[in-house]
Amino acid sequence: MIVFNQALITGNELKYLEEVIASKKLGSDGIFTQKCSAWLEDNVSCKKALLTPSCTHALELAALLLNIQPGDEIISTSFGFVSSANAFVLRGATMVFVDIRTDTLNMDESKIEAAITEKTKAIVPVHYAGVGCDMDVIMEIASKHNLKVVEDAAQGIMSKYDSRPLGSIGHLGTFSFHDTKNYTCGEGGALLINDEDLIERAEILREKGTNRKKFLRGEIDKYSWVDIGSSYLLSELNSAFLWAQLEESEKIKAYYD
Ligand SMILES: Cc1ncc(COP(=O)(O)O)c(C=O)c1O
Repeated sequence: MIVFNQALITGNELKYLEEVIASKKLGSDGIFTQKCSAWLEDNVSCKKALLTPSCTHALELAALLLNIQPGDEIISTSFGFVSSANAFVLRGATMVFVDIRTDTLNMDESKIEAAITEKTKAIVPVHYAGVGCDMDVIMEIASKHNLKVVEDAAQGIMSKYDSRPLGSIGHLGTFSFHDTKNYTCGEGGALLINDEDLIERAEILREKGTNRKKFLRGEIDKYSWVDIGSSYLLSELNSAFLWAQLEESEKIKAYYD
């Protein structure tokens, strides 16, 4: 039987929620968020995983981080989800859609180069239904034209392309933990950072443009406004639920397989 759109409750969700409530620390980046981020960094092999309120927000954070400006062009596909386009359109960019392949329903990598202009800034491959785009070819094209790659792996957690986890190959990757996804916390997401140079600013943009994260780590004695940004943080309540899912990832994977 194919189970569609129904979360598998693994058993510890309520216990972890009670722990957060008892701790009276409901905000962001607490113990459960740290556990989820560490799990993602280990299992996806990314340099940094920042939990966000949704994959939509992770994509918006990616667009801010890449300094997408009005007039920039972003190459993606229209056979996906609105958020992979909206995140960049919100920054004033124009989406340039290339056709999809009939076998994978993913971006046809052989059509990307013809779509590149001097305004192109990034390629956003969408791993539709967790099926990997041809990332080797996409990364080669990106490197040749000096473009950034943001993998929209909203539907691709625990999926691989040629033995590499989806989300770990582009400069940035994004996951969704929405209710419709196999690993869920109701609403949630993550930005996966594979390019070390992007980590520091990503933490700032996610914390309303402040260096609060550095302050919380004890690296500075006060925090202040240093950049643009927004609030792209996930509550500990959601992270606690998510941790109960991630720690049982194999069980969930087997359930949906
Ligand atoms: C390919 C893709 N990108 C982005 C999203 C947005 O995810 P979220 O609901 O976590 O914002 C989805 C949601 O279904 C999706 O399928």
